[in-house]
Amino acid sequence: MSENSERVTLLNESREFIPSDAVTDSSNNGNYQWMVFRDCMNTFVHSLIALSVFVTLCFAFQSIPLSAFQLHICLSVAGYQLLMSHGILSIACYNGWSSSMKHSHRRRSHWILQLAGSILAIAGSVIMIRHKTVNFNTVHGKLALAALTFTCVSLLNGVMTLYKVGVGNAVSSQTFKISHLMIGSSAFAVSSVCLSFGFIKESFRNWSSNEFAYIMIAITSSYTIIIVLKPWFTIISKLTNKVKSKIC
Ligand code: HEM
Repeated sequence: MSENSERVTLLNESREFIPSDAVTDSSNNGNYQWMVFRDCMNTFVHSLIALSVFVTLCFAFQSIPLSAFQLHICLSVAGYQLLMSHGILSIACYNGWSSSMKHSHRRRSHWILQLAGSILAIAGSVIMIRHKTVNFNTVHGKLALAALTFTCVSLLNGVMTLYKVGVGNAVSSQTFKISHLMIGSSAFAVSSVCLSFGFIKESFRNWSSNEFAYIMIAITSSYTIIIVLKPWFTIISKLTNKVKSKIC
């Protein structure tokens, strides 16, 4: 046997004993492809969030000292789009940076990120509301108010879910969990629509261009849809289980 063919045989043999390959082979039932797809989507979402937040912050930090208008953009985007999006993602077992954490630690990072995100987002919105003389007279303003309301309710609801508080027998902790998923993901989704209306504002289009504003809207919509898919699938499966258990 030549030296080359010996090396090929050795390489082939050694491949058969690589434990990670054994794991890969045992999950050859479609699960493996799904896990790879999920991880790729997760990386894709992280890149889109980074891009959207980075561009918006560049726009906001055009000049120093920051005006109320600039501050409202910095705080709202950091709160809703950076911290809250990671707060939602952190609870998922496949999310990049939190995947090796214990479930209890993922839950902790979830509420810390949600709390910090909500504080920044509320501060950013309140600064602009106080700055304006007439409030909620634009689509952007109305959406910001809706996101703010969802955020406040979600905070309250999240605390109740954390401590598994039920209101007597009437509302179970499971109902709180479902409503927390609904309200929390809605707060994030509405804030993304609000941000998209922010990108259409003349000041942003003058700084960039019409085309760039539409690209930013496409980027924001893409990661928002991917992020809220998981909570909405969980809501549907929990509701289906509830209905099934009532029927059977
Ligand atoms: C998630 C991100 C954002 C949130 C939550 C948010 C929130 C708000 C809030 C609460 C107001 C006051 C509304 C009122 O009292 O009527 C406001 C006004 C305003 N925002 Fe934003 N904003 C965001 C992003 C942006 C961006 C990126 C721009 C970029 C140009 C922008 C531009 C404006 C302008 C020009 C106003 C004043 C006119 C109006 O009310 O529509 N916002 N925003």
